Amino acid sequence: MKPASASLRQRLEQLRSEIERHNYLYHVLDSPEVPDAAYDRLMAELRALELQYPELVVPESPTQRVGGAPVPEFSEVRHRLPMLSFDNAFSPEDVEAFDRRVRERLETDEQIGYFCEPKVDGLAVSLTYREGLLALGSTRGDGTVGEDVTHNIRTIETVPLRLRGRDWPALLEVRGEVFMSNAGFDEMNRRAAEKGEKVFVNPRNAAAGSLRQLDPRLAASRPLEIYFYGAGQVEGATLPGLHSEILEVLNRWGLRTSPETRAVVGVEGMLGYYEDIGRRRSSLRFQIDGVVYKVNSIEERRRLGFVARAPRWAIAHKFPAEEEMTIVRAIEWQVGRTGALTPVARLEPVFVGGVTVSNATLHNIDELRRKDVRVGDSVIIRRAGDVIPEVVRVILEKRPSKSSQVRLPQKCPVCGSGVEREEGEAVARCTGALTCPAQLKESLRHFASRRALDIEGLGSKLIDQLVDSGMVRNAADLFGLSVDQLAGLERMGERSAANVVESLGRSKQTTFARFLHALGIRDVGEATAGSLARHFRSLEALRSSSVEEIEEVPDIGPITAGHVHAFFAERRNAKVIDALVGHRVSWPAVQEATVRNSPLSGKTVVLTGKLATMSRGEAGDHIRVLGGKVAGSVSKNTDYVVVGDEAGSKLKKATQLGVKILEEDEFLKLLGRKR
Ligand code: IVH
Repeated sequence: MKPASASLRQRLEQLRSEIERHNYLYHVLDSPEVPDAAYDRLMAELRALELQYPELVVPESPTQRVGGAPVPEFSEVRHRLPMLSFDNAFSPEDVEAFDRRVRERLETDEQIGYFCEPKVDGLAVSLTYREGLLALGSTRGDGTVGEDVTHNIRTIETVPLRLRGRDWPALLEVRGEVFMSNAGFDEMNRRAAEKGEKVFVNPRNAAAGSLRQLDPRLAASRPLEIYFYGAGQVEGATLPGLHSEILEVLNRWGLRTSPETRAVVGVEGMLGYYEDIGRRRSSLRFQIDGVVYKVNSIEERRRLGFVARAPRWAIAHKFPAEEEMTIVRAIEWQVGRTGALTPVARLEPVFVGGVTVSNATLHNIDELRRKDVRVGDSVIIRRAGDVIPEVVRVILEKRPSKSSQVRLPQKCPVCGSGVEREEGEAVARCTGALTCPAQLKESLRHFASRRALDIEGLGSKLIDQLVDSGMVRNAADLFGLSVDQLAGLERMGERSAANVVESLGRSKQTTFARFLHALGIRDVGEATAGSLARHFRSLEALRSSSVEEIEEVPDIGPITAGHVHAFFAERRNAKVIDALVGHRVSWPAVQEATVRNSPLSGKTVVLTGKLATMSRGEAGDHIRVLGGKVAGSVSKNTDYVVVGDEAGSKLKKATQLGVKILEEDEFLKLLGRKR
């Protein structure tokens, strides 16, 4: 072995701090400076050197996250300061009462400054850094005594093994939440299912199970993360006087704090935050079960103190439960637009996530078998945000003694046609196509939907009536409906009938892309319909094309091309299309030269605010017809931001990034239209 030179030691230190800096940029600041490959190269060089000079390996080296052997058992850790829990608030009144108590104790009529944070649904841990190095990681346990899980905590990439900077206290205890992101959890479960291993019920259980492993290699293989939300014991320095400032200092030391936090004033501020986060709950990257409010001033906190296990200076405002237990009354099969049979559990109604739920999807026959849900079972159901409620799992201990597995029906429960399941497909389908009333209803719903022909007033109930009465056998029949016919239907007045006929008339003026989307061709969504429309530009051209010609369309593969071709080759479809054209369903022709010369061709456009002359949907259509793209958010790749009335944050972002802003008049000019 060669003796290590001073320059070698220097290079090792350089590599380690460079890697730590990238970790910090990536995890704490969320703005990486180098691509993953460059980071991997640094790690590879460090590993190679450490392999060659094992005597120079230090525990805080980024290579040492999974160092030790499995621990034989967990040892106990007594917390230097107890780890408290929150009092809960379930209503605005509870929050008002909390604020009142705070002001009474502080003997003030002034508004209180609060700091709001998401209540991340994971498990609380305490980390101790001595002289800037991670020395101990423990679970909360009962709040007084927890378990030593340092070996697992070290494997979490967002936990720094060494603090940044120099101004940290000699002893720093920080507290935070270990959790799994939704994406990490899904990916981990997907892999486990593939290997036939046990899957976890939810991200919280998965995080808890992973942290309580004796073998750190197991924890390392799980996508654990951490957000820090406060300090515990501190020796050798004083932290700032506001909680918000403490979080900033933690951040500087490389400790990632939770996102979506906000400093507010008074009850109104807290409730505003609750509503805002509640609205965005289902789009956050992690699960939360509420928000927390903390008095921001540390001095005020000291004066407030705590009762039993909960501080008087903080409260958790919970969201309505998203998981509940109930009983499966029946399992029925729903037939979708493409004939797909979806098993649906009819439930004993329960209140979950703020609404009463009496149906939950079981997705498909494979899922149903995997979860083995049976009639009479007690089940956990989950409702996340505006997502369709689903059955999470069966509580086997409560299964009635006589129960049997659900079978895939041989015949369509709606029309009696045969049921087919293609090789390797999870989905079973009714073969009745549009002779099946269920498929017909779903395809009409799709045809009339906002992003297809956008037929206002033609709702789900009306479609049921029209199909059940035999008045409508295909989409084209809709345009032959008269006011009298419609007015003859139950719950339909003269006035609404006239409105429906009027909007049917209006919907006939559409775009080629919308028309293609509305037809409901298998695999042809909005984007594919757009590509087809741009490529073929006319219905005649598309209908007379071969599979090979359709395959030439960008983004269309052989399977979709096959579906498209088969759709137009079908005699019954051809008849419906002819009838639609006969009813004067039409769209402006698009000349190639118009697209080529359009100032919007190839441009990415973001729409914000209300336009006076058209809806955002229409504006999007015009942009796409002229070869442009519509994006949902402003970035440096945006070419134009079109602003209408009450434009908000997108306008601000555009100004910051220097993106060209178009007022409605200028936009209309680009479209070649007048106001
Ligand atoms: S502060 C009372 N901040 O909630 C002070 N805790 O019910 C508690 N939690 O065990 C710690 N998000 O696991 C705090 N932003 C947050 C939190 C949070 C989630 C959990 C933590 C704790 C439990 C207390």
